[in-house]
Amino acid sequence: MKTIIEPFRIKSVEPIYFTTKEERKVILEKACYNPFRIHAKDVLIDLLTDSGTSAMSSSQWAGIMQGDESYAGSSSFFKFEDSVRSITGLSYIIPTHQGRAAEKIIFTILGGRGKCFISNTLFDTTRANIEFSGAEGIDLICEEGKHPTIPAPFKGNIDVVALRKKIIEKGAVNIPMIIITITNNSGGGQPVSMQNIKEVRKVCSEFRIPLFIDACRFAENAYFIKQREDGYADKSVKEIANELFSYADGATMSAKKDAFANIGGFLAMNDLDLAIRCRNLLIITEGFTTYGGLAGRDLEAIAIGLQEVLDEHYLEYRIRSIEYLTNKLIASGVPVMQPAGGHAVYIDAKQFLPHLPVEQYPGQSLVCALYEEGGIRSVEIGSLMFGKYDDSGNLIPAKMELVRLAIPRRVYTQSHIDYVAEVIIEVFQKRNELKGLNITEEAPMLRHFSAKLTPTTSAN
Ligand code: F0G
Repeated sequence: MKTIIEPFRIKSVEPIYFTTKEERKVILEKACYNPFRIHAKDVLIDLLTDSGTSAMSSSQWAGIMQGDESYAGSSSFFKFEDSVRSITGLSYIIPTHQGRAAEKIIFTILGGRGKCFISNTLFDTTRANIEFSGAEGIDLICEEGKHPTIPAPFKGNIDVVALRKKIIEKGAVNIPMIIITITNNSGGGQPVSMQNIKEVRKVCSEFRIPLFIDACRFAENAYFIKQREDGYADKSVKEIANELFSYADGATMSAKKDAFANIGGFLAMNDLDLAIRCRNLLIITEGFTTYGGLAGRDLEAIAIGLQEVLDEHYLEYRIRSIEYLTNKLIASGVPVMQPAGGHAVYIDAKQFLPHLPVEQYPGQSLVCALYEEGGIRSVEIGSLMFGKYDDSGNLIPAKMELVRLAIPRRVYTQSHIDYVAEVIIEVFQKRNELKGLNITEEAPMLRHFSAKLTPTTSAN
């Protein structure tokens, strides 16, 4: 098989800035060992997130110039609406400024004390919006999804048996919706199978609970279905996406992922009464119903991006580039989540740094080492992000200590990715020298964004 190449050529470039290792040591210390505090220009390869960081195409930039900035009834809105509808088939399409704005609206309306939302895995902002409304969020990931290094084709599936049990336990009337996150970001970017979605649909119909899709990475998920699920090899990704959404009653989406947009999102549904309530809230919080917190030009960029992402040459390259980095790391013995996910590589920091106890945040130690060694910015998804304290102030650690390297779409070339692999392998070879970290300052919620840390004095 020939090399799978980037299915684009580059028309406009942006410089990246080099620093020395000595400079990065100082930068890291000044940033209190938290790369969220580092200036982006001091980062060489930025793998903090794949959200809002995509390179837009020349068609999207052309669309930007065509943006209709009319307050009401903008033609850009109708292009956006058509584009979203051609993929989701959903009736009522509500633009929002990003994914969490859609979440805020829907959970404000359907959430509240005593309510409960069940998912394969809720993303942090989704869970936060549910909990902020007073409701409870429950994750029921399948067994395969709980083991980072054991490969399986659809580790993002929800456990349907557990779902049924939980609905009976909580009472269907208290469950305003079931949410399937595709791909499952917090669970390693792993896909959900069509079979699983169909089974969830059946359960939802039986108990009369609406099914919503958190569709941020729907195209990556549809491509995995084409590759891995029986009966889909000859279908187009668009047909697969159409089928997938046909089982849903609604969707939320951050257009900052699979729509290649730098900002934007939407909320979509088939229930007119619910749509009216959402639109009323939209007008208070985001803006009029035909722009929802976005400029007309953003709506154009999303409308175009949503169609571009269905290009199968692009998806082949996208999925292959994540797999390429994952396989290079596996070949050198680096413990990573398997199989490769759709948008990111996840390193198992617990296995990478077995000499560091979770109280010394091995994930964050690795994040800092990758920056110091090679100017790469990644993010800890472990006890710094999710850890809590018990009544005596002891850390209740997260289930896993992961480091996510999220790959922005169409931004980096293969040589950038080769460089990333080299840096990780270099750090892996001297992993025994890495020190742990202690927190010196933290916020009561979402502490990973702003926490300050300091290295422990010894390696143990
Ligand atoms: N749902 C999922 C599955 C996400 O990954 C995100 C964002 C959101 C909802 C919220 O969307 O950022 O537009 O408000 N994920 C980003 C990330 C931030 O880095 O994974 P948003």
